[in-house]
Amino acid sequence: MASIQSRKVTVVGAGFVGSTCAQLAAFKNLASEVVLIDVLEGRPQGIALDLNQSAAVEGFQARVIGTNDPADTADSDVVIMTAGRPRKPGMSRSDLLEVNGRIVATVAEYVRRLSPEAIVIVVTNPLDSMVSLMRHCLGFPARRVIGMAGVLDSSRFCWFIREETGAAVQDVNAMVLGAHGDSMVPMPNYCTVNGVQVADLVKADRMDAMADRTRHGGAEIVGLLKTGSAWYAPASSAVAMAESILNDARRLMPCACLMNGEFGFEGVYMGVPAILGTEGVQRIVEVPLTAEARAQLQKTAGAVQNDVEALRDLGLM
Ligand code: LAC
Repeated sequence: MASIQSRKVTVVGAGFVGSTCAQLAAFKNLASEVVLIDVLEGRPQGIALDLNQSAAVEGFQARVIGTNDPADTADSDVVIMTAGRPRKPGMSRSDLLEVNGRIVATVAEYVRRLSPEAIVIVVTNPLDSMVSLMRHCLGFPARRVIGMAGVLDSSRFCWFIREETGAAVQDVNAMVLGAHGDSMVPMPNYCTVNGVQVADLVKADRMDAMADRTRHGGAEIVGLLKTGSAWYAPASSAVAMAESILNDARRLMPCACLMNGEFGFEGVYMGVPAILGTEGVQRIVEVPLTAEARAQLQKTAGAVQNDVEALRDLGLM
């Protein structure tokens, strides 16, 4: 990986998630160049200029480059893929399969050609099948193609635990595995407040309610916004993954990884705890599962495989 002075992060898609990713990457000085690319003419350029004009106030050194030209993304160390349509109220993430699948395939073509060493973080929905498609199109080693969602879903769970217990949110840890959809798997026995089991702090029905709200956390925001989906927490989550990778911080983060026998699954992407560092997924951590969590993960695998089959039927994979 390049030194910080010459690092390059590309964010694909200059919507709310993408532009917030670019802002966070710049604020955190994750790279000397943050490239924001979109098919819309003017939008990434305008956002880049606006962000660069905040540099003197915020005191960051990164330079943001807005572009419509894939050539400007060449030799990226990390690519964060956010391009795609968001959900509207009443839509499931799988309703976006075809339209976003075509966008992923288009982007993969130039990432493969221009940034063959990149680590790619996929945010586009439906997350687990879009990361499968991205990996298929790129042909990169699986450790370099990862999906963001577990970090987001876990962070949502943390917030609900903070609200329920009143504990400082930085002391709250939560874990959500499985797919980024209705079959996601909140893991109550991995939720703690500074080491204290949340299950010892709240009643079981409150824990169930928080897990359920987490499962529908994205839809709750879509329902409120009416015209799109969440962006602050998704962007924070994707950039936290990029930061662990670029700084080789080796944080343990739940994210969508390709299973190669782990948890008994093979050839399917799903959210699992992984250590992220300079090679991407350094290690998948096979935590012990309750019978219930194992059954839920099985459901997740089935749901992801259905979406992947649909992508095959569409001729995209
Ligand atoms: C959400 C979308 C980004 O969960 O999937 O908010």
